[in-house]
Amino acid sequence: MSLLDLLRRGAPPADAPPDSPDPAPESSHIPIGGLVEIRDVHKSFGDLEVLRGIDLTLAPGSVTAILGPSGSGKSTLLRTVNHLEPVSQGLISLDGEVIGYRRDGDLLHELPEREVLRQRTRIGMVFQSFNLFGHMTALQNVAEAPRRALGTPRPQAEARARELLELVGLSEKAQAFPRQLSGGQQQRVAIARALALDPKVLLFDEPTSALDPELVEEVLAVIRSLARAGTTLVIVTHEITFARDVADTVVFMDRGVIVEQGPPDQVIDHPAQERTRSFLQRVRTGEQDPPPEDAPAPAAEAGTAPSAAPVPSRTRPEDPS
Ligand SMILES: Nc1ncnc2c1ncn2[C@@H]1O[C@H](COP(=O)(O)OP(=O)(O)O)[C@@H](O)[C@H]1O
Ligand SMILES: [Mg+2]
Repeated sequence: MSLLDLLRRGAPPADAPPDSPDPAPESSHIPIGGLVEIRDVHKSFGDLEVLRGIDLTLAPGSVTAILGPSGSGKSTLLRTVNHLEPVSQGLISLDGEVIGYRRDGDLLHELPEREVLRQRTRIGMVFQSFNLFGHMTALQNVAEAPRRALGTPRPQAEARARELLELVGLSEKAQAFPRQLSGGQQQRVAIARALALDPKVLLFDEPTSALDPELVEEVLAVIRSLARAGTTLVIVTHEITFARDVADTVVFMDRGVIVEQGPPDQVIDHPAQERTRSFLQRVRTGEQDPPPEDAPAPAAEAGTAPSAAPVPSRTRPEDPS
């Protein structure tokens, strides 16, 4: 089976014989992923230019890992993709449709909120701090978005939510509230919730950075199961071993630019740039990033209280082997 076939049909179970007749992929209900084109994207906050000309193409169904020091603009880049942050210059499109703007000849007009919300239903996002609704059960958290954004009737939305909770291994926790779940379980609910709208693109912003070390793997396992199942994935992570295993493209960002990008065996194992090498070295030895010279304190994620993240992943030995 060619890679392209895998992208089209979803990866077979790991133990399937190589040419067994079409195993129905578990995630076959997830539609094929979108093509994201990021062209010369700049973003400034006041005088601080945080993204300084980003060009990146995310092929349908591809898995891209974004690495880079704290403050390099990774979160901002993800947030521009679903127009949580409007770009200052440049364009981002999904399957040829410009995100956040309407084209009118050479002019771009920002879309009304209703249209932006419609576009966002195709771009899921999973945050470091889960962002679940505390007063809703796991099932309600997952069923809520399709009910509100797509008007899906409650029985269908809940039936689908049950399937998705099963997909992330949480069938038994459907009635649990977030406070009754571990961080890893909450993050898996958040992933199920992001999948509930059948997004074409799924963005993960350091999905395991707020987790205790023993809970990281269960979340990575869920993300791994989504890779090559159709949805286009972008994962900002400090888990280098995971990035090497799961990504077909690794992007290294520093100070608002892409320093290098390519397949993992190139960027992670044979980086061409000194900045990439020294970053990887720092992550491997568990050193904290030095704060960028020109950067104010990092902003909290939208819509969340600043979360106490007691165990930043980069302070942890990354691979026991
Ligand atoms: N809403 C904002 N207002 C002002 N500065 C911001 C805002 N969001 C991010 N920044 C700044 O942009 C820079 C890049 O931040 P971010 O994208 O969060 O980096 P990363 O995710 O790589 O750590 C940092 O200097 C940060 O302080
Ligand atoms: Mg960030």
